[in-house]
Amino acid sequence: MEQVFSKVLSLFSKIDLTKLVEQASLWRLFCFHPMRLSFYLLFFLFPALMLAHDTHSCAKPQEVAVRHLALKLTVDFEKKIASGSAQLQLDRKQGSKELWVDTRQLNIQSITDDLGNKLKFDLQSDKPWLGKALRIELNDLSKSVTIFYATTSESAALQWLNPEQTEGKKHPFLFTQGQAILSRTWIPIQDSPGIRFTWEAEITTPKELMVVMSGNNPQERSENGVYKFRMNQPVPAYLVALAVGDLQFISLSERTGVYAEPSMAPRAASELADMEKMLVAAEALYGKYQWGRYDVIVLPPSFPFGGMENPRLTFATPTIIAGDRSLTSLIAHELAHSWSGNLVTNATWDDFWLNEGFTVYFERRIMESLYGKDYSDMLAVLGYQDLIETLEDLKDHPEDTRLKLSLENRDADDGMTDIAYEKGCLFLVSIEKKVGRDAFDAFVKSYFKEYAFKSITTEEFLKYLSRQLKLPEGVQLQTNEWIYSAGIPAGTSTPKSARFEQVDAVLASWVSGNTPSVGLVVDGWTTHEWLQFIRHLPETMTQEQMKELDATFGFTRSGNSEIQFAWFMAVIPNAFLQADNSLESFLKKVGRRKFVLPLYTAMLKNERLSAKAKEIYQSARSGYHAVTVQTLDELFSSK
Ligand code: BES
Ligand code: ZN
Repeated sequence: MEQVFSKVLSLFSKIDLTKLVEQASLWRLFCFHPMRLSFYLLFFLFPALMLAHDTHSCAKPQEVAVRHLALKLTVDFEKKIASGSAQLQLDRKQGSKELWVDTRQLNIQSITDDLGNKLKFDLQSDKPWLGKALRIELNDLSKSVTIFYATTSESAALQWLNPEQTEGKKHPFLFTQGQAILSRTWIPIQDSPGIRFTWEAEITTPKELMVVMSGNNPQERSENGVYKFRMNQPVPAYLVALAVGDLQFISLSERTGVYAEPSMAPRAASELADMEKMLVAAEALYGKYQWGRYDVIVLPPSFPFGGMENPRLTFATPTIIAGDRSLTSLIAHELAHSWSGNLVTNATWDDFWLNEGFTVYFERRIMESLYGKDYSDMLAVLGYQDLIETLEDLKDHPEDTRLKLSLENRDADDGMTDIAYEKGCLFLVSIEKKVGRDAFDAFVKSYFKEYAFKSITTEEFLKYLSRQLKLPEGVQLQTNEWIYSAGIPAGTSTPKSARFEQVDAVLASWVSGNTPSVGLVVDGWTTHEWLQFIRHLPETMTQEQMKELDATFGFTRSGNSEIQFAWFMAVIPNAFLQADNSLESFLKKVGRRKFVLPLYTAMLKNERLSAKAKEIYQSARSGYHAVTVQTLDELFSSK
């Protein structure tokens, strides 16, 4: 439907209407003409209909929208519950009587307004992924509502870790993960990326722990276990986040630093030493960083993602701590979200590529400016390989390979594939190639400025693109193909890496049997060259080959999670018994979905390892975050 609208609109945007109506006689004629109605319909009603509708939220912001959240919670590690209240300050449109709020897996106790009235409310039926819509009857004068509530043992955003699941093994830990639609499982809120609000919070926790949020953070423990936070810039609900644990802060520059458990903090700080440089490079590309500080918290290994771009405080997996700073493009990625995603936000999850495609593009530009084009070319080639694999995986669902998604009646999380990331980035690279880097950079910079602190749809982006970017004669961007068609448009050029050509030659001489591992020239190889090498090992390898490689290069015991992961993927189909124990402990320790899902999938496909996979999952499951559990439960129940 939206495609039809956007086509109609783009047709009309080509007609220079102002010129037409400038001619007064024409205009006078028009005022009395029956066409007037269709004019109003097309220019006022259609765009209104096209206002982003988020099918993953029950909120009706056109009636009442939340403008500010004041959260007050006590964190109880014994009961594994957070309880307290959420006060929502409202922007009420004329005649509004009801407030609609998203909730899921919450225990709602009572609701009052700012005048002290107890308000009537009801919870609608529980819908898969979406939860229970909360309908609150407002008094004519209610300006805010306060919802008294508690989280439950089901609340999917929260992961409560026992001391054994932490680095220090002494204290428990709690963190939240809001994206895409999990914030409603710990805060009753209008949980749509198209609705922005400012917020404040007061969090109470046991005194020996420290609390941090996606706002202004403490750098020291408080004396009484009470912590106060503010976020004065409007953000969508998925960007509100909390972590509680035995944390230490280490400063890296005037405006950057890391939080981690004390035993991890020094390693984290040395790994992320280039953060200030990244920030400087990012600002040089696309304008001033808008959020004040930029800190990173390195979480326990069960964190289900590589990173999460919570404003002012990126949440990160400890699996990026490789010891040689080789996996820091992930930090460049989360930092880039401070522009694409946090400043300019996808209005609905169908527009997810606007967040991730831009961010991958921006991430590689940051890496290029810090470490050179050779480096970012390697990232681009590895990303392209992921894209080709995803296209293959989705060959029976070509509609999921369009940039504009259609996730109605599905979990918003289903859109989280490499399509948004890598096809999105490739689209932007293709534009850059067609108009030149300078013109494209100027466009991107103006885009971030124009839409700062706003949420936009793909269609709004396309309109802005066609208005703002002047195309050289005869050049076409093929936007409709990129956005609304499956796959990659014909004629798109494939990323190339000179450093990988050398890797390919080395690999070829090993595969042909001409050179044993010890004779291979691998001097100066970084993690990325190794990934290229391992990813292209022959599908079938003999025990001798695997043993020889492993003896020379130590992949099984590598301290680098990406290398270990790639190696496990290569040897799982080849019955390399020597790697079994290491694979098992990796799966029992790490909960990052990008690693564990493909590993379990590969094991299940392998006769020797499929029972083992089930056994390991049974014992590891309770240590994973709900996001990872949900995906893995689906995997194991389908087998
Ligand atoms: N915002 C995403 C993580 C996310 C996406 C969480 C959708 C929930 C739903 C984050 O910026 C991200 O993309 N993380 C990647 C790392 C990145 C380098 C590609 C990840 O976690 O692997
Ligand atoms: Zn991202």
